[in-house]
Amino acid sequence: MMRSAILKLLVPLIVLSLFPLSFTVQPYIIVLTGEDFKQSFSSDDFPDWDEFGDSGSTHKSENELDPGSWKPLFKPASDATGSSNTSTALEALYFSGVSKMVSAASYGDSRLMEEAAAEIGNAASEGHAHARSVLGFLHGMGLMKQRNKAKSFMYHHFAAEGGNTQSKMALAYSYAHQERYEKAVEIYAKLADVAVKSFLVSKYPPVNEPVRIHIGAEENEEVLMSFRGEDAEKVQILKLLAQKGNAEAMYTIGMFYYLGLRGLWPDHAKAVSWFLKAVEKREPRSMEVLGEIYARGVGVERNYTKALELLTLASRQQIHSAYNGIGYLYVKGYGVDGKNYTKARECFMKAANKNDSSAQYNLGVMYLKGIGIEKNLWTAYEYFKKAANAAEPKAFYQLAKMLQTGVGLKKNLQEATRLYKVIAELGPWTSLSRCALESYLKGDVGKAFLLYARMAELGYEVAQSNAAWILNKYGKRSMCMGESKLCTDAERHRLENSLWWQAFEQGNEHAAMLIGDAYYYGQGIERDYHRAATAYMLAKEKSNAQAMFNLGYMYERGQGLPIDLHLAKRYYDQALETDPNAKLPVTLALASLWIRMNYANSFLVHLIDSLPGVFPKIKAWVENVLLEKENATILTLFACLLAVLYLRERHRRRAVSATAQVAVRRS
Ligand SMILES: *[C@@H]1O[C@H](CO)[C@@H](O)[C@H](O)[C@H]1NC(C)=O
Ligand SMILES: *[C@@H]1O[C@H](CO)[C@@H](O)[C@H](O)[C@H]1NC(C)=O
Ligand SMILES: *[C@@H]1O[C@H](CO)[C@@H](O)[C@H](O)[C@H]1NC(C)=O
Ligand SMILES: *[C@@H]1O[C@H](CO)[C@@H](O)[C@H](O)[C@H]1NC(C)=O
Ligand SMILES: *[C@@H]1O[C@H](CO)[C@@H](O)[C@H](O)[C@H]1NC(C)=O
Repeated sequence: MMRSAILKLLVPLIVLSLFPLSFTVQPYIIVLTGEDFKQSFSSDDFPDWDEFGDSGSTHKSENELDPGSWKPLFKPASDATGSSNTSTALEALYFSGVSKMVSAASYGDSRLMEEAAAEIGNAASEGHAHARSVLGFLHGMGLMKQRNKAKSFMYHHFAAEGGNTQSKMALAYSYAHQERYEKAVEIYAKLADVAVKSFLVSKYPPVNEPVRIHIGAEENEEVLMSFRGEDAEKVQILKLLAQKGNAEAMYTIGMFYYLGLRGLWPDHAKAVSWFLKAVEKREPRSMEVLGEIYARGVGVERNYTKALELLTLASRQQIHSAYNGIGYLYVKGYGVDGKNYTKARECFMKAANKNDSSAQYNLGVMYLKGIGIEKNLWTAYEYFKKAANAAEPKAFYQLAKMLQTGVGLKKNLQEATRLYKVIAELGPWTSLSRCALESYLKGDVGKAFLLYARMAELGYEVAQSNAAWILNKYGKRSMCMGESKLCTDAERHRLENSLWWQAFEQGNEHAAMLIGDAYYYGQGIERDYHRAATAYMLAKEKSNAQAMFNLGYMYERGQGLPIDLHLAKRYYDQALETDPNAKLPVTLALASLWIRMNYANSFLVHLIDSLPGVFPKIKAWVENVLLEKENATILTLFACLLAVLYLRERHRRRAVSATAQVAVRRS
């Protein structure tokens, strides 16, 4: 069957672009009908605003939000001070174990890994929650510990009770996988709550999303390039520009520091100092961000008066989203003379009319809770939906809440789980994927694999497929470790398959193709056309041309699907529409289909059908000698095409000779 690299990347790199990876959750279509809608409700369970973090609470550091994170290990030594409290012996043992584990993965050193596993085991048996979480990981992977799902689950359970957020993610994912949605939804809801509160800028919350390092079987070069060493140069150039007084560069560098982008670690103080300089130059976006920073009190002392001043300045310079911040201040009565809901709504409207999704969300909350206006659930829902489709995470959160509680929408725990998961995966724990990516780019595939594998366990589809892909591509190197010592081939395959499988279950297209092929050809599993068709269907949904082709082929032959020649043709045509490179195989397939339609039961059809059976014998020869990469089926179809041409030729000759005879008679 046809195979070609098809995907095009949509993420061009612009030198000054801030967010090369904006929120890329797959376009999320929320399908709800009037029937899902319930009029009677009470919205008391719903959270109020938390646009800029509640005024009572101070901004929490990542360590507080994600206790036990491995991330402190990756921070440059200079600012590691105070980041990890290693005052207790147990804590020290834990960090020593984790850091040994990470280096062991880098160097493929199984003795060191054994030591690490022992230290982590010791800390865990003393009741250290974070060590238990890591132990759960080791058992889940079969890494220097017996691979055991039940044990893994148990350790995560205890670690989660002890407050480890990564284990909470793992647990929620595991419950969702077992379709125990009441449990899953509860944990994900709490995690989503933490995630929503951790966003630092209302406009660009999730900048830490895992990056997919491969496309199909190939490395995702275009995207990786934007993270490669060359980038540091760009940052240097930007800094130089900023120092020379370029306000735009000041803003950009400020954002890099604020969010910790492009290889810089977050440094709020530095960020604020750049924003202040840019504001002096009347750079409007810096005014808005700085306004938010003063409202949140991150890196500066909270000062609502100043926040309002800055936001107002920004709004006067056509930064319409600044109205959203102003509206928030009016709703809360911060920095203004008392709450004024009318004014707040006016402000939100100004921003929402310019498609600012945060403002749409805020209007939704006003209608949901009937703040300053009459409660109107339908309008609230409409606003949330609009904001959600513009990828506004807080709107996902509210919709998930509606589905979870059955307030406004018909209760649907499965859907609620799905929505919450999207948000939970934007929480601070996501930043581990950045460490993984950095390791990968430095050529440290062992460490990258370990970190992606950890995130795979927490349910990140991108990490699952990244880990599987690394294992597939580099696994023969010494980086993969098994229950004892280095991986055996069997262990590696099992691990890789299980990772692909997880990604597949979460809708990964490449994984779906691999699994479809495995079932179709019976590689490593019993051949099962039916399951192959199911897997290909999943990839087809993601507009995978090869999947369409394969389905056409299977409809044509009734493999795992009822014979349906018309549908087969439609799939072949679709494949071609999706991928112009599919021209040759599709032409051949259509030719073969044409024969089948017009010469059913002819010897030719039998010939076509028998070709794949004869095929394995000549396959090796074909692959080595003739078509290095192309798939074998193409040859089959090629044969068909020749047959068609031959047939046509015969027709024509007959016709020609018939007319010739007529001519002879006439003469
Ligand atoms: C570290 O934690 C211990 C107990 O958990 C506490 O007593 C101690 O003050 C903390 N030290 C630092 C530097 O935060
Ligand atoms: C807050 O900002 C305003 C205006 O910039 C200033 O007058 C006031 O002193 C600040 N308040 C605090 C507590 O710093
Ligand atoms: C609230 O704002 C509206 C519109 O800006 C204004 O007309 C009204 O007087 C304000 N109310 C109070 C109590 O300040
Ligand atoms: C807002 O979005 C709608 C629909 O996506 C679009 O038609 C409209 O032009 C946008 N308005 C602005 C001001 O961007
Ligand atoms: C094509 O089909 C063969 C079996 O005929 C399969 O093993 C292979 O993975 C497919 N892909 C390519 C690129 O040949």
